[in-house]
Amino acid sequence: MKPTGHAQPADGDPGQVAPGPATADGQDQGRDKGRDQGRDAGRDQGRDNTQDLGQAGTAAALAWGTTGQPVPPGLTAVPLGLPGTLTEAMLPADPMDLLRAWMDDVVKAGLPEPTAMVLATVSADQWPRARMVLLKGFDSAGFVFYTNRTSRKGSDLAEVPRACLLFPWHALHRQVIVEGGVTPLSTDESEPYFHSRPRGSQLGAWASRQSTVLASRAELDDRYEELERRWPEGTEVPMPDFWGGYRVRPETIEFWQGQPSRLHDRFRYTVAAQGWTVNRLAP
Ligand SMILES: Cc1cc2nc3c(=O)[nH]c(=O)nc-3n(C[C@H](O)[C@H](O)[C@H](O)COP(=O)(O)O)c2cc1C
Repeated sequence: MKPTGHAQPADGDPGQVAPGPATADGQDQGRDKGRDQGRDAGRDQGRDNTQDLGQAGTAAALAWGTTGQPVPPGLTAVPLGLPGTLTEAMLPADPMDLLRAWMDDVVKAGLPEPTAMVLATVSADQWPRARMVLLKGFDSAGFVFYTNRTSRKGSDLAEVPRACLLFPWHALHRQVIVEGGVTPLSTDESEPYFHSRPRGSQLGAWASRQSTVLASRAELDDRYEELERRWPEGTEVPMPDFWGGYRVRPETIEFWQGQPSRLHDRFRYTVAAQGWTVNRLAP
């Protein structure tokens, strides 16, 4: 069933839900109600994790925020359990609106690299591969990131043009997973971002034959210095023809909100002929 904007159960399809408008009010109420629950969820998860790992050396980090202990050095203090519930009534017809609201929360919470996402690709011989990249834009057309097209991810995408993106916002007990087909951005679409980057990053894009083996650090530094001489300060660094953006066109977008007792809320939007359908999933 298509989202209708009303929080009604979908006729004849008990698994499907009809999202309501994601009003600021609705979301704030949810946050307020869920603030304590969210903290409990953290405790619950942390306790289980610590047990799973047998009180290993990382226990201090695992216990952080879950037992009220002080924040270990090197970790950023972000408020845990800020947001709370995610209910059918809070789901907007367009999942991008919910993603935007969650991204705002991540920025407000002061998480480092709020737009960092895990990009999973599949190689031609069916090996799954994952790495972090930065999201550089998203709208109804899709999710954009930039990279070296001859990198391992670039060759995967040339062979299997599909990807999964995962936003690991565990400090807020949230996760968003996107799956979809991938298309390269054109040179015209990629160039504005390339030229907006610091000069060092532009030269770095030329210097790094990403994912290939280097004999030494010096090899990379020498190449960079050579490029600095080739394009001295004041000259424009052209965008390499082996570099550019990709757009992931979402076919599904899943929102996961942690809850106590592992009874988490999960909603998966799936693209439909017009708009989106959405289902609640068992956690
Ligand atoms: C937080 C973070 C952000 C990153 N952002 C990018 C990015 O936007 N583009 C990119 O090519 N690599 C980025 N990297 C490096 C990639 O994770 C990866 O090492 C590199 O792209 C090579 O991946 P590949 O060999 O699988 O192609 C980032 C790494 C981290 C930790």
